[in-house]
Amino acid sequence: MNSELRQEYLAALGLKSWTLRAKTAPESPATEAIAAAPAAVAAPSQRIAATPTAAPVIAKPPIAAAPSAAPAAREAGVDWPELRARVAACTRCGLSATRTQTVFGVGNLHAEWLIVGEAPGADEDRQGEPFVGRAGQLLNSMLRAVGLAREQVYIANVLKCRPPGNRDPNPTEAAECLPYLERQIALLKPKIMLAVGRIAAQNLLRTDKTLGSLRQQVHRFGASSVPLIVTYHPGYLLRTPTDKRKTWEDLKFARDVCSRV
Ligand code: URA
Repeated sequence: MNSELRQEYLAALGLKSWTLRAKTAPESPATEAIAAAPAAVAAPSQRIAATPTAAPVIAKPPIAAAPSAAPAAREAGVDWPELRARVAACTRCGLSATRTQTVFGVGNLHAEWLIVGEAPGADEDRQGEPFVGRAGQLLNSMLRAVGLAREQVYIANVLKCRPPGNRDPNPTEAAECLPYLERQIALLKPKIMLAVGRIAAQNLLRTDKTLGSLRQQVHRFGASSVPLIVTYHPGYLLRTPTDKRKTWEDLKFARDVCSRV
């Protein structure tokens, strides 16, 4: 993506002046991420083995502990069409009674990036596609800012059905629904996962840590240890635009990690 176009998307994130300042020095995501990282967290350059020639390797320690690989046995061996059909017919939790339709996920089945949000909202419940409302527009801008079109990535949620009133998913709903996402991940084999928001991050990483404490680290997901980066939810950013700058740091961090996988 050319720099003018990127500038447009950054402007959409409210980050124009920040990037203009960055333009005075060559962009170095790792270096910039170091500056933004909490002191207790190792800099990306320490966490990721820099191997300019051979295939880069992500250092294991001191990466945050991987969650135990949850068995996705329930949907094991299921292909995309069958998985989609199972989700559409799902009645495993009470949300099936209140949904308009399930929201399976959308995007490129060969995507390197998998974006995982929390659950469908009202717009998504109506349209059957994740992140189509205002938060979705901002998510698209966030992706564009790191050179990704929405069509290049895959987007899904922890929950496939809308919780009434957009309440947080309860533990039973998340536990019943996660095997679908785990199978999507197994089929997709993404290079990197981006968890947007606290609910997605906590469910994927099986932790109750705060979002702030999970940012700027390379976590790992599942049996294949997919690198997982945590950042703010675009819906939260609509209410708290001052955190867009930190989100930009996280996106660059993710892009940097992805380029080294
Ligand atoms: N918020 C989410 O977490 N997911 C969506 O699909 C829409 C809004």
